[in-house]
Amino acid sequence: MPTNNKRFAARVDDIQPFRVVEVLTRAKELESLGRDIVHMEAGEPDFGTALPVIEAGIEALKNGATYYSDAKGLRELRESISLYYKSDYGVEISAERIMITPGASGALLLLAGLLVDRDDCVLMADPGYPCNRNFMRLVEGKGVLIPVTAANNFQLTAALVAEHWHKPDGVSSSAGGRTVAALVASPANPTGAVISKAELVSLFNAVEQQGGYLLVDEIYHGLDAKGKNGEKTAPSILEITDQAFVINSFSKYFGMTGWRLGWLVAPDWALPGLEKLAQNLFISMSTMAQHAALKCFTPQTRDILDQRRDEFKIRRDFLLPALRELGFIIPQEPAGGLYIYADISQLLGAFGGSFGDKFGRNSQEFCLIMLEQHGLAITPGADFGHHLSDRYVRFAFTTGMDRLALAVRRMKEIFR
Ligand SMILES: Cc1ncc(COP(=O)(O)O)c(C=O)c1O
Repeated sequence: MPTNNKRFAARVDDIQPFRVVEVLTRAKELESLGRDIVHMEAGEPDFGTALPVIEAGIEALKNGATYYSDAKGLRELRESISLYYKSDYGVEISAERIMITPGASGALLLLAGLLVDRDDCVLMADPGYPCNRNFMRLVEGKGVLIPVTAANNFQLTAALVAEHWHKPDGVSSSAGGRTVAALVASPANPTGAVISKAELVSLFNAVEQQGGYLLVDEIYHGLDAKGKNGEKTAPSILEITDQAFVINSFSKYFGMTGWRLGWLVAPDWALPGLEKLAQNLFISMSTMAQHAALKCFTPQTRDILDQRRDEFKIRRDFLLPALRELGFIIPQEPAGGLYIYADISQLLGAFGGSFGDKFGRNSQEFCLIMLEQHGLAITPGADFGHHLSDRYVRFAFTTGMDRLALAVRRMKEIFR
């Protein structure tokens, strides 16, 4: 809150800080004091952007890509994404249905603006990506957090949608707003849970039956835990229907977090509304970044990105059993993405674990102790919702094998 008599809009009080950013900031502070910190907090690939993409960005700047571009994005880039859907998913998605956005974040903001009126509700999984509910709040709507566990694959299901979908009777105003959409991520953050094709079909049908919209965040696509020789673990909703909304990004598999570029695939009928919003909210995406992103789809860059994906898989395969051996419970093995969501209740006395209060009474205290005393930066479950969040932490395997091995050695010492 401002200290003078200035005030924020009420929504600001309802929006929680993004804790992972706070962990990262504190970790950097400790590093500046000479401490060695193993970074397992941020969901950001550590490899940096692939060189051909960087070079294309530099070239684009030299060639004058410093002006606004079309609000829907560069035609060439939208066509490249369309070809990517054909080559990698075997689906025909017209470039007309693809809009370039400032990251998946920009796509989420556009969809909130397009679909959510005051008091409208959007169903989402708890745990889930923390900013989602805040996008809804920003447009005076509401993200309704539905508790999910390993029993339902840490994902919304058709049954949960049917149970929680709300249609006010129009008489009692206390009944709360109407539900307009369900938002899922597959693979999910923080659990890495993937929704199977059959489950996606049921989910889509359940939402359709209510007359609502299904929004699928596919930002972790390409980072399948099965790696090079396995078939794709995460199907796209676009393989099933052209009536769902897809959110995607150049941030994760494509390694371009700081360039702020993503995309959205929408049903035909939604495009004029989205374009109008994009024109007003963003005018255009970074033109230079879009030219650079064109290079993401060349065989040379794809090879680099696939090697990185395989490296993530090696890290996951190392960290998963190591954490289990240390006493973490991992009820859901991540099938994709960059994270392991681990239950610490065997370690904390508050949940009947072995070490009393030595490592805190909940995951927030645990993460603080790990960071301040042991130089291990991990994210508390509270960042991802409320459901059992006190007993969960998220490890991001976005640092090299040597650093992960160091983290495991430190934890072996700590939990001995
Ligand atoms: C599930 C999910 N959606 C969206 C985003 C936003 O990504 P960006 O705006 O960098 O594309 C993230 C970032 O971590 C995420 O985990």
